[in-house]
Amino acid sequence: MQTVYSKKYWKWGFCSKLYDALTPESYRESLRQVVRQLPKKSNLTLLDVGCGSGLLVDVFKEQGIEGIRYLATDVLDEGVAHAWQKATQNFKSGEALCFRSDLERGLAVKERSLDVAVAHFSLYTLSDDSLRNEVFRDLYKSLKPGGRLICVNPSIDYDPKNIIEESLDLLVQRKNCFLYGSKRFLVYPLTFWFGLKFIYSQLRSGNWRFYTREEIKEVLQKSGFKINSFKPVYAGSGIMVVATAD
Ligand SMILES: C[S@@+](CC[C@H](N)C(=O)[O-])C[C@H]1O[C@@H](n2cnc3c(N)ncnc32)[C@H](O)[C@@H]1O
Repeated sequence: MQTVYSKKYWKWGFCSKLYDALTPESYRESLRQVVRQLPKKSNLTLLDVGCGSGLLVDVFKEQGIEGIRYLATDVLDEGVAHAWQKATQNFKSGEALCFRSDLERGLAVKERSLDVAVAHFSLYTLSDDSLRNEVFRDLYKSLKPGGRLICVNPSIDYDPKNIIEESLDLLVQRKNCFLYGSKRFLVYPLTFWFGLKFIYSQLRSGNWRFYTREEIKEVLQKSGFKINSFKPVYAGSGIMVVATAD
């Protein structure tokens, strides 16, 4: 059953900016893995599906990624507003467009218009599997022939403790004692108790969806995709699939 908290979870996170502030480093690392899967071509039209606050744009900026026409959509105005703010700072005028839309009512982009669709932890909270599968079919139709889907969802091994541990390991590599200390003792306890444990409970209760490799493979193949690769990300708590539309 969806509670008020689960319905408003992302909205509150975006409004308060806690979503960005509490994001574990391991999650940002998962976005970096997504960026590594982008085709090495310029002028890519990319749709950030369920863009949230635009963390993908943060990673584009961090990695100096250029040559992308960035389209982003989310059902929440609060997410779209933040993504748009970041996009206008990172992209030239006319290279970015962020808009509100509900994936459950169809994908608001032209058929065969995208080179890449990124769905990073954005489909697992949709109301049910049939709607989710419909979105995969819409994504297939929206990609040009040879276009690429990069999709990350929670895995059956979702584990909040592993996420925090990997995040701390990644921060050790930065050699910044203040950053490490503040995340370890102040930020990540909040991330753990108010973010990750909550998501874990939603996944285990069946309100939200985790996938095994076989399940996501079957869904994508039924939608017409050819699977290129699988990769565990997010300390094994996420599964990244790269797939191609014919
Ligand atoms: C965990 S957040 C991920 C956001 C972003 N992709 C990231 O990695 O930071 C899930 C996002 O999916 C969006 N979302 C959920 N249901 C949606 C729907 N029906 N249509 C569009 N976006 C949706 C939420 O509003 C939220 O921003």
